[in-house]
Amino acid sequence: MPITSPETYWWKPADKEEKIWISVAIVWCLILFTMMPLWHFVGGQNPSVEPMKIRPDDFDKVTGAFIEKYKIGEESGIPVVKPPDGADVYLKGQMWNWIPILELKKGVNYKFHISSVDLMHGFSLQPMNMNFQIVPGHDNILNLTPTASGTYHIICNEFCGVGHHTMVGKIVVKD
Ligand code: CUA
Repeated sequence: MPITSPETYWWKPADKEEKIWISVAIVWCLILFTMMPLWHFVGGQNPSVEPMKIRPDDFDKVTGAFIEKYKIGEESGIPVVKPPDGADVYLKGQMWNWIPILELKKGVNYKFHISSVDLMHGFSLQPMNMNFQIVPGHDNILNLTPTASGTYHIICNEFCGVGHHTMVGKIVVKD
């Protein structure tokens, strides 16, 4: 049996059902596209960070100096730091810890600097569900005012090796 070409039907106009589905898909694409910037403003989460470059060893140094200056204690080997009102706050992601533990005051604005000194980590503040990708070499600068007291945990949500699941940090907000 000789090979025959299939019927050439693809140049025929699309029928009604096909047109409806294409329209639905286009409208849905536009909704999703609009939601991305819209959610930035109305979503009440993931505020914009001001990204700056910093060498990981420099970030390590400034974090070390910050800890030394405002350290008030230690918990399981991790320093607990209580910065003064309005201070620049440094938080370092390092396999597999968030350093230091922070003690903040409710209603006070802090300028956060969050970075990594080894590889990519994921900053995820719980239960607020505020998420940032933390990459070495990039200082994520974030103006943050805690509005409720309590204990918040920072989990790492980017796989960063064998201890990834143990990478949990803490922020305590007091009245
Ligand atoms: Cu750090 Cu996963």
